[in-house]
Amino acid sequence: MDRQIIVTGGAGYIGSHTVIELLKEGYEPIIIDDFRNSKPFILDRITEISGETPIHYSVDCTDEEAMMAIFEKHPNLLGIIHFAADKAVGESVTNPLKYYQNNVGSMAVVLKGMAKYNLEHLVFSSSCTVYGEPDQAEVTEDSPVREANSPYGHTKIICEKMIRDVFASGAAIKGTLLRYFNPIGAHPSARLGELPQGIPNNLVPYITQTAKGIREQLTVFGDDYDTPDGTNIRDYIHVVDLARAHVLALNWSLNQSQTFYEAFNLGTGKGSSVLEIINTFEKVNQLKLNYQIGERRAGDVVQIYANGNKAKEVLGWECEYDISAALKHSWEWEKGLE
Ligand code: UD1
Repeated sequence: MDRQIIVTGGAGYIGSHTVIELLKEGYEPIIIDDFRNSKPFILDRITEISGETPIHYSVDCTDEEAMMAIFEKHPNLLGIIHFAADKAVGESVTNPLKYYQNNVGSMAVVLKGMAKYNLEHLVFSSSCTVYGEPDQAEVTEDSPVREANSPYGHTKIICEKMIRDVFASGAAIKGTLLRYFNPIGAHPSARLGELPQGIPNNLVPYITQTAKGIREQLTVFGDDYDTPDGTNIRDYIHVVDLARAHVLALNWSLNQSQTFYEAFNLGTGKGSSVLEIINTFEKVNQLKLNYQIGERRAGDVVQIYANGNKAKEVLGWECEYDISAALKHSWEWEKGLE
């Protein structure tokens, strides 16, 4: 009973993989997810993989009353891993208030609930988008937080500041910010993975859908950047490695005697270009991808990758998978989808 942890967005892409890793480590995740950007069958898959069926509430995390009722019902909670958020960058530009209302609103409810029910541990899903266009491609946690390139990015910066301000007010909170680089891949069983709604915004789901024939052709957004092959560079990290980092962050948080507010970069430390991703995908899966070079996409950062030393040294986190494994797992998952 004393290993219970709320996982908002626990049926989502990163959330569901994290639930699996938490269960493996003997935690008891309680999922809050209203399936607005996931599907109920993901919960069945969690049971299939882990042999366990976590408690689940279909609740909107901005619904303060419903959220408080959940905290009230579980008096032995350790804390919260807060994934639930809208994440479509393009949509956030056309409908910014949806993002502020949901992402910032749910963060406020989570922090209020933590204060009311004396929950100490908070692990928050942040993003490398908080670094904006960095001066150097390799960023550490001390690199400046910059103007993000979208309202989505701004909500991540605001949520980080909300946690910091609550911590600074003297609240008994242990706040861990995990700044994800580019999550890709799927569970090695091919039973869990990303479920993009409509036309994917992100590179890898667009690649897998093109390979499957759902999309006709992938467009590479620009090959005239100042990088070795002219395409953007990102740090692509396997979702299972990312999920494991959440468990290590929670373990670490539980071992701290003082309150804190700490950010960690979660990336492999290695940058890959768009063309490298395409070539690796073709090679590991032995297929040809239909792609063309197109215009640059507005708002794209030229190159960014993590300096992941802090997560390694402090959390003891090591990546198990490389991009080849991740791109194989992404394809296995895509092939298994209806
Ligand atoms: C994007 C967001 C970032 C967010 C992350 C969440 C932007 C500018 N950034 O990161 O804030 O945290 O998603 O997952 O939207 N690409 C193509 N063709 C495609 C799709 C992508 O060439 O059809 C390229 C992009 O130009 C980029 C790379 O692939 O260089 C990765 O793109 P994407 O997967 O969208 O991630 P980010 O833009 O890095």
